[in-house]
Amino acid sequence: MKIAIINGPNLNLLGVREPGIYGRQTFEEFLSGLREKYPAIQIDYFQSNVEGELVNELHRVGFSYDGILLNAAAYTHTSVALGDAVSSIKTPVIEIHISNVAAREDFRNRSFIAPKSAGTIAGLGLKGYELGLLYFL
Ligand code: DQA
Repeated sequence: MKIAIINGPNLNLLGVREPGIYGRQTFEEFLSGLREKYPAIQIDYFQSNVEGELVNELHRVGFSYDGILLNAAAYTHTSVALGDAVSSIKTPVIEIHISNVAAREDFRNRSFIAPKSAGTIAGLGLKGYELGLLYFL
């Protein structure tokens, strides 16, 4: 089983960035715990602040992996290209948000990813990635 986690802009700063919203754990710390807990699953991780690189990564993993956990971060709310990329690949995508986007600014209620995804998990912190992973098992 191969799962890809793809994180978008500013998520490289987890642990430092707005900890009241996103928590104090770095993604690397969280990821090593996840890999330890699910040793039989190959969990690949990619993060970029560049929209086109996220599109390229979706294309790279999107025909051979079993599932994709995509937190497109701010591009969720703006990127037709990422929404089209999710539609263009075969691997199912779960949209992840650490914060409860429905409870924040209005612009965060718009998602170009959600209509193309198998489902969305938001507001459950980093635990949302693990819950998304369990969906694919
Ligand atoms: C986010 C929510 C987005 O609105 C925001 O732009 C992010 C992170 C989340 O994980 O809660 O960067 O995707």
